[in-house]
Amino acid sequence: MTNITEFKTVSILGGGVLGSQIAMQAAYHGKDVTIYDAFQESLDKLPARWDWMRAGYEEDLEDFTADKFDEALKRISTTTDLKEAVSDTDIVIEAVPENLELKRETWEKVGKLADERTVFATNTSSLLPSLFADSSGAPERFLAIHYANRIWKQNLAEVMGTPKTDEKFVEKALKYAEETGMVPAYVKKETPGTS
Ligand SMILES: NC(=O)c1ccc[n+]([C@@H]2O[C@H](COP(=O)([O-])OP(=O)(O)OC[C@H]3O[C@@H](n4cnc5c(N)ncnc54)[C@H](O)[C@@H]3O)[C@@H](O)[C@H]2O)c1
Repeated sequence: MTNITEFKTVSILGGGVLGSQIAMQAAYHGKDVTIYDAFQESLDKLPARWDWMRAGYEEDLEDFTADKFDEALKRISTTTDLKEAVSDTDIVIEAVPENLELKRETWEKVGKLADERTVFATNTSSLLPSLFADSSGAPERFLAIHYANRIWKQNLAEVMGTPKTDEKFVEKALKYAEETGMVPAYVKKETPGTS
């Protein structure tokens, strides 16, 4: 995995419960993060989410410092413009609501706007990624990275491709998970999650 370029930029789709946590975990580990949400009201709730996470990081992480958390916040920007979010980024991680049609619509738009180098990841819990991988127009770059709630503590990232995913993108996703403080677990056979 050593010849894989380090990830620098991350775009999160959906700034809710999980999206906000995936964003902070990436920023805390030095990534430049853009959070896209279709609703400004959801983005407006982020400061309260950061306060909750700050308390969790402080309680649970030995390497926590207030400065480190403040620096992470500076690396996070938000937008309601999907093109701005995904057109020049190393990885897109989608955490929009668990609805197949919405996932398909979202990935169809992303596929048209994103660069060819970008890894596409969904955080779906219960849907098979192959049900909507084709919507992205690039199923070879499409996979799942499944995170759990309170991800800084429950820091397992399940990385799972579909039958169409190119192995090199699975390796990139495993490396990205490691770079962001997660313990990557490679799920070799596509299965839906339960939470
Ligand atoms: N909550 C969990 O514990 C958990 C755990 C693992 C995986 N997941 C998965 O993560 C995904 C998101 O779950 P969540 O709990 O964070 O949901 P959530 O409802 O907290 O957040 C979803 C966010 O998506 C935004 N959104 C709605 N429509 C959108 C659109 N068209 N484009 C962009 N953003 C849109 C909402 O405004 C909201 O901010 C789901 O697939 C879920 O199954 C959740």
